[in-house]
Amino acid sequence: MKVLITGGAGWIGGITTRLFEEAGHDVVVFDNLSTGFEHNVKTSQLVQGDLRDIVAVEQLFKTSFDLIVHFAAKLDIGESTREPRLYYDNNTTGSLNLIDIAVKNDVKKIIFSSSATVYGEPDAIPIPESAPLRPINPYGHSKLMVEQLLLSYEKTHGLEWLAFRYFNPIGAYDGIHQNPSVSNIVPVALRAIKSGQPMQVYGDDYDTTDGTGVRDYIDVVEIARAHLMGADRVGACRAINLGSGSGYSVLQILAAIGKAAGQEVPYELHKRRSGDAAAVVASSHLAQDLIGWRAGSSLDQMVQRAVAGLDKE
Ligand code: WQD
Repeated sequence: MKVLITGGAGWIGGITTRLFEEAGHDVVVFDNLSTGFEHNVKTSQLVQGDLRDIVAVEQLFKTSFDLIVHFAAKLDIGESTREPRLYYDNNTTGSLNLIDIAVKNDVKKIIFSSSATVYGEPDAIPIPESAPLRPINPYGHSKLMVEQLLLSYEKTHGLEWLAFRYFNPIGAYDGIHQNPSVSNIVPVALRAIKSGQPMQVYGDDYDTTDGTGVRDYIDVVEIARAHLMGADRVGACRAINLGSGSGYSVLQILAAIGKAAGQEVPYELHKRRSGDAAAVVASSHLAQDLIGWRAGSSLDQMVQRAVAGLDKE
């Protein structure tokens, strides 16, 4: 297949690009390199450009594609609350340009990188795809709006789509890793080990096994593989959770990180971080039923790969 991957120079997009190349597909990466890196794209063609630039997107579709895999987005939740317009412009308007120009050029298959943040604070776990969609920050709203655009263009233009709602991705592949300076738990914990400065554990008074927040951590390579497996099921037009269905507390993942790094993570207990839910865990049945995808790695395996990937930095 001829595949367009937006955001293919980034972390999850870069790993997905690698898997599509390894499977023999012909990939074009479109990325503005705002957070991605040219060196993440090995053999595919890289077109540097921004989805907000209509002329650049029209130019891109002078080539026809069999499938679009759309990752390009800003993803810092804290930044999204400070600069919502940036998120609606970059994530939502950028996606609207992509979808609209694609269908006008008769490219009508897309897989979209959505997020578990579309659920906000869940009423119960595990969270099925049918749960209420109540994002609590502009980042989550910007992703949900794109899911709604997909649904709308399905009705008006026969667009075929899948939206994968990622839970908490961790890990690395072939030198492509998460930006080490981001505020997600694995990079934060590794920075604490390196600096010796304790990291903050946000809240120990949640109604969970040990009082700390519970999340569904999922290996980034397994996430990338789901896109490959979903490539021939885009006609399903559904949003699908990508999570393992198992939840681990902050203290459990810190213990796993300490084990993988050969050194305990220094931490101190801190008050809750605003906007954090107590527990966010996926119901993962739909992914299995629809595309035959299931997460297979244990927490220790995932964390080992994540630590090894970031340690090379
Ligand atoms: C994990 C747990 C924190 C940092 C967000 C999005 C999610 C996905 C990943 C994509 C929580 C705790 C963290 C720290 C801590 N992104 N923590 N101290 O917020 O669950 O998920 O990023 O769209 O959709 O919602 O991820 O890695 O920040 O936190 O105690 O310094 O670790 O409170 O319980 P989060 P995270």
